[in-house]
Amino acid sequence: MEIHPIPLVFYSLFSILTTSKALDTITKTQFITVDSNTTIVSPSESFEMGFFKPGNSNNRYLGIWYKKISTGTVVWVANRENPLPNSSGVLKLIDPGILVLLNSTNNTVWSTNTSRSSHNPVARLLDSGNLIIQDPNDHNPENFLWQSFDYPCDTLLPGMKLGRNSVTGREWNMSSWKSKDDPGRGDYTYWLDPRGYPQIFLSNGSVEQFRTGPWNGLQFSGTGLRENPIYSIRTYFERDEVSYSYDSLNSSLVSRLILNSNGVVQLWRWSDRNRDWLLDLNSPSDNCDSYRMCGSYGSCDVNKPLFCGCLSKFVPKNSISWAMTDWSEGCVRRTPLDCKNGDGFVKYSGMKLPDTRSSWFNRTMTIGECSEVCLKNCSCVAYTSLNISQGGSGCLLWFDDLVDLRVISESGQDIYIRMASSESGKNSHKPKHE
Ligand SMILES: *[C@@H]1O[C@H](CO)[C@@H](O)[C@H](O)[C@H]1NC(C)=O
Ligand SMILES: *[C@@H]1O[C@H](CO)[C@@H](O)[C@H](O)[C@H]1NC(C)=O
Ligand SMILES: *[C@@H]1O[C@H](CO)[C@@H](O)[C@H](O)[C@H]1NC(C)=O
Ligand SMILES: *[C@@H]1O[C@H](CO)[C@@H](O)[C@H](O)[C@H]1NC(C)=O
Ligand SMILES: *[C@@H]1O[C@H](CO)[C@@H](O)[C@H](O)[C@H]1NC(C)=O
Ligand SMILES: *[C@@H]1O[C@H](CO)[C@@H](O)[C@H](O)[C@H]1NC(C)=O
Ligand SMILES: *[C@@H]1O[C@H](CO)[C@@H](O)[C@H](O)[C@H]1NC(C)=O
Ligand SMILES: *[C@@H]1O[C@H](CO)[C@@H](O)[C@H](O)[C@H]1NC(C)=O
Ligand SMILES: *[C@@H]1O[C@H](CO)[C@@H](O)[C@H](O)[C@H]1NC(C)=O
Ligand SMILES: *[C@@H]1O[C@H](CO)[C@@H](O)[C@H](O)[C@H]1NC(C)=O
Ligand SMILES: *[C@@H]1O[C@H](CO)[C@@H](O)[C@H](O)[C@H]1NC(C)=O
Repeated sequence: MEIHPIPLVFYSLFSILTTSKALDTITKTQFITVDSNTTIVSPSESFEMGFFKPGNSNNRYLGIWYKKISTGTVVWVANRENPLPNSSGVLKLIDPGILVLLNSTNNTVWSTNTSRSSHNPVARLLDSGNLIIQDPNDHNPENFLWQSFDYPCDTLLPGMKLGRNSVTGREWNMSSWKSKDDPGRGDYTYWLDPRGYPQIFLSNGSVEQFRTGPWNGLQFSGTGLRENPIYSIRTYFERDEVSYSYDSLNSSLVSRLILNSNGVVQLWRWSDRNRDWLLDLNSPSDNCDSYRMCGSYGSCDVNKPLFCGCLSKFVPKNSISWAMTDWSEGCVRRTPLDCKNGDGFVKYSGMKLPDTRSSWFNRTMTIGECSEVCLKNCSCVAYTSLNISQGGSGCLLWFDDLVDLRVISESGQDIYIRMASSESGKNSHKPKHE
């Protein structure tokens, strides 16, 4: 059944005949000098790895780019913080299975590391764009000595993760390039915050700028990516690992999610017909995508001239600063809660769900159970369905002031917010869930 050896032999001959400077692997006996212009190519020639000079820079970087669609789009950079100033340098694979990049004085400017070892390691570039170091007889991804997919730069390719693993302590963050001439780590990061129900944040330094909102089974609760015929989103929220990744449903589709050096997250898809990249998604996309734009219990609406308003039954906390369009203090309930004497809930529809960092979730509870749990706990301020696909399931509860709400008329969600019984309708502690 195994027919691997034959195509591999043919492939090697083919690559030697057509592109004499392209290799399929790096081994301990085969190093690559920067000035040789040698590259490593993935088996079906989707990706290529070698040295490049970005933009107007004269620095050399070890990087991975698309091979077939050759517009010079770099998807990963190894020595992004430590460039080679000229073409003196060498990439080697050494014991116990690590890649090292040496400069003209033979100092290490970049290297991989590993907790495993192999007597006969090889480095190869997979068709997914993943550079791996493996024992040649062990193709189990769990046993790779190292892989570039664990070290995202500004690009997330299908199959790469954003998140963290608490067993290995590994964090998968995207970070922008400083500029198009400098792939060094810029100011922006796109990362997963595991607190409460996990969400993805775009930060500028330590300042949050944009939040995707929680994944609700169909889309990120906001203006972002939703379930569609082109892409699928995978969520993995377990004790050992919390991560998001995306895949193209059609494997012949070429796409990439990038965080550009201006702090904009973009999903690009290659069009063979146009011979160019098409933009599928741009975040943040409008004023209301700015994190906490309208303060607690404020609601942002792009169709309103000044964007910010208080949720109905709420009033500005500081009406003077609010009138001067300083919305930072947000809004408060016009009738305070009175938990001991019974509160109720008011349904707000068409919303991006608020920040879930102070939330709690349960996948199996019904919305009715969810309402009961929230009502019984005086510090619970709101609840909704966790997963709105196929009629809704699960429970999401909030335990702090609600921030970063916005109106999303076409695909927003319902959220039930705790309110004094006089505001939530007589004798109706529980809203009806059809
Ligand atoms: C590598 O490419 C550069 C620029 O194209 C060229 O000047 C140089 O001669 C090449 N080196 C080799 C060994 O082919
Ligand atoms: C690169 O720079 C180093 C140090 O300045 C020098 O020794 C080396 O010859 C240079 N290499 C090339 C190819 O210019
Ligand atoms: C760097 O290492 C190579 C191979 O071991 C050796 O030939 C070369 O002389 C070394 N260069 C310097 C500057 O030490
Ligand atoms: C080589 O790298 C080392 C360590 O980063 C650095 O100290 C040294 O100056 C570099 N050599 C050259 C010629 O750039
Ligand atoms: C790899 O290197 C990083 C940074 O030096 C270190 O934090 C990490 O523990 C190392 N991992 C392994 C498996 O040695
Ligand atoms: C990922 O980003 C977050 C937020 O900026 C930061 O706290 C964390 O240290 C980053 N992790 C890594 C590995 O860069
Ligand atoms: C990110 O922060 C820097 C420094 O504070 C600032 O100059 C820049 O305008 C910020 N970017 C955005 C998109 O707000
Ligand atoms: C949401 O619910 C649907 C239908 O029950 C299920 O197929 C899907 O896996 C759920 N999504 C998540 C993220 O839990
Ligand atoms: C995948 O995309 C290719 C090229 O666009 C197309 O020819 C093929 O029919 C698609 N396959 C599926 C299952 O949609
Ligand atoms: C989720 O809710 C169900 C039903 O109420 C309960 O049996 C289960 O223990 C809860 N799970 C967690 C993690 O609290
Ligand atoms: C209410 O929920 C909070 C957060 O989950 C919890 O710490 C607290 O013990 C709960 N209070 C009651 C009375 O159950």
